[in-house]
Amino acid sequence: MAEPPFLILAPIRGITDCLFRTLFQHHFGGVDEAVAPFLNPQPHANIDLRQLHDLLPEQNRALPVVPQFLHTNPEGLLALGQRLHDLGYTRINWNLGCPAPMVTRKRRGSGLLPYPDAICAFLDVVLPRMPLQLSIKTRLGLNHPDELAALLPRLNDYPLSEIIIHTRLGKQLYRGATDPERFGQSLTLSRHPLVYNGDITDLESWNRLRRQFPTVQRWMIGRGLLADPFLARTIKGELFNPEQRLSMLMAFHQELFTSYKQVLAGPSHLLGRMKQIWFYLAASFPDQDKLWKKIKKAGTEERYLAAIDGAFRQ
Ligand SMILES: Cc1cc2nc3c(=O)[nH]c(=O)nc-3n(C[C@H](O)[C@H](O)[C@H](O)COP(=O)(O)O)c2cc1C
Repeated sequence: MAEPPFLILAPIRGITDCLFRTLFQHHFGGVDEAVAPFLNPQPHANIDLRQLHDLLPEQNRALPVVPQFLHTNPEGLLALGQRLHDLGYTRINWNLGCPAPMVTRKRRGSGLLPYPDAICAFLDVVLPRMPLQLSIKTRLGLNHPDELAALLPRLNDYPLSEIIIHTRLGKQLYRGATDPERFGQSLTLSRHPLVYNGDITDLESWNRLRRQFPTVQRWMIGRGLLADPFLARTIKGELFNPEQRLSMLMAFHQELFTSYKQVLAGPSHLLGRMKQIWFYLAASFPDQDKLWKKIKKAGTEERYLAAIDGAFRQ
């Protein structure tokens, strides 16, 4: 029998923090690991301890977690690596995929992909002193897929644990078609284990990709899991009937809402956070557009809870 796929929860900044990751795994499960959203680069070696709060081991017991950084400053990164090592982490991920113009302008995230010399120079300085295993999360390029094709053979010389490829260009942001063919080309160019990422949204897209890349073991899913939290277990062969789905979603929401209410400062933060989650989760309900509109409009906790109540009382 084929090995079950290894499924990684993608980092989604603003949503997949430690509380979300933990409750997601408790209520739905099916995910084998998570990459945490990126930590802000620090201008100096002193790390803002609030940033590390999300990664404290006692809050991250539900799921193995790989912290992620966006730095291009070796000293800042090495200090962070040491802190994470002290906390018990063994792995770290370099974000070479972020498409936000504020980030790419500074030649960070996917903004570094047109500059393979700079990427190799950074690895040359950092890897010999880094106490953690390094993986990379990247895209096909910033402006053109030849960028990653040129970079991958050069990365073969470095001891990386894996390379996660979101099969879009940085300039596409999160829209437009993914390009699985280019992932296929990447498999021929890299000696590192490659992880497929991008638009795995249902069983059909999953089966298509699995057939196309039978040797790939590790897969990363972000928005597909936020929209359908049952997707990981569905991929692994489980079935859920509508009543089960509704009651599990309800229990998840109840605990998530109560927990965020305790930790977030005030109703506007709480509603803001819940709306970010529902932007995706509404897809798990019939008439998702109507539901999402109601939730988006809710300006008070009472109105928000009334909108949610309607969704759960079908
Ligand atoms: C709102 C949002 C925030 C994201 N934050 C991060 C991040 O912090 N680090 C990262 O590497 N990718 C981030 N991503 C990209 C996702 O991890 C993932 O690569 C992308 O959404 C494609 O996968 P998907 O189609 O399965 O969602 C973010 C994506 C979105 C939509």
